[in-house]
Amino acid sequence: MDPVNLVEYEELARGKLAREAYDYYAGGANDEITLRANREAYGRLPLYHRVLRDVAARDTSVELLGERISFPVMVAPTAFHRMACDEGECATARAAGRAGTIMVMSTLATTVIEEVTAAATGPTWFQLYIYKDRGATLDLVRRAEAAGCRALVLTVDTAVWGRREADVRNNFTLPDGLTVANLAAHAKQNFPHGLAGSGLAAYAAAMLDASLTWKDLEWLRGQTKLPVVLKGVVHPDDARAAVEHGAAGVIVSNHGGRQLDSSPATTEALPGVVEAVAGQVPVLVDGGVRRGTDVVKALALGARAVLVGRPILWGLAADGEDGAYRVLELLKAEFDLAMALCGARTVGEIDRSLVM
Ligand code: FNR
Ligand code: LAC
Repeated sequence: MDPVNLVEYEELARGKLAREAYDYYAGGANDEITLRANREAYGRLPLYHRVLRDVAARDTSVELLGERISFPVMVAPTAFHRMACDEGECATARAAGRAGTIMVMSTLATTVIEEVTAAATGPTWFQLYIYKDRGATLDLVRRAEAAGCRALVLTVDTAVWGRREADVRNNFTLPDGLTVANLAAHAKQNFPHGLAGSGLAAYAAAMLDASLTWKDLEWLRGQTKLPVVLKGVVHPDDARAAVEHGAAGVIVSNHGGRQLDSSPATTEALPGVVEAVAGQVPVLVDGGVRRGTDVVKALALGARAVLVGRPILWGLAADGEDGAYRVLELLKAEFDLAMALCGARTVGEIDRSLVM
């Protein structure tokens, strides 16, 4: 039977994925306090719906960095899509295009940037991890530019890797044949071999730069004309600093509860960031978005759009491109319904008064 919501997609995917893959996708850091908090905070937030507002005709589209997307949900960058289905990131790119939204591809994709953009039927952004090797990092930036990515997403909540205990227990590594494809040109495509614990954590510790500061954001901005969106902010002071250092957008994120366990639920962090940014750049949010009502809540709290991570992986695992597409379409239909029941005809009519 076809899943009727995103939670059912997870159940379906769980039955299809290898244990190590499911655990890696689903898991959070340590006690998974933050992972649960992301969901629970949405559950606690009521929507004070409005009535008698003629919602017969509705428009769910929204503009983001000069791009109009069909509804305010984007595909978050997540690693290793070919663990979920053979077509991997190419399937995701086609699904996002069909749904009329943006795919953010991960540095740690199992398919190279150029192949993903060639398969894509909609706009793509590129998520960047800064490697200790700045040459390799710049090469990723140049390739993303050349391949037509419209923005860079610099992820900054991973100075060091969170401890995902399931991955430690499983000695998580990439299945045979899969690599960190984008880094093959720099011989950094494989996890270290023969170590106990999470192979990804070992890879990140060896490769990624834990010494990053605000100067590195400036460095990156000096290297590219693409807008740079900063991902992984929860503190208002960091949001202010992001704008001061020229970020084109801020993504309120705790990495889906995979980094600092006890980082706040993103809906709780969102209002402070929105206030600090004061409309200077768009604020996006991710973490725990599973329902159309969640999207309305995030927008009511001041987000321009949201991103979804795991549900896309569940869609891919369930049914490849079609599965990821249906996940997005389910969420779009739920969002449209929630908008209508809240008395909003357009995304612009979703305002703070809905969450009082
Ligand atoms: C991620 N996330 C992530 N973020 C990033 O900037 N680069 C990456 O490569 C990854 N990889 C990744 C893999 C997996 C399996 C997950 C679950 C998450 C974080 C991601 O972009 C996003 O912040 C969260 O997934 C949002 O939470 P939900 O929607 O998964 O609850
Ligand atoms: C993760 C990465 C890849 O959360 O960002 O696993």
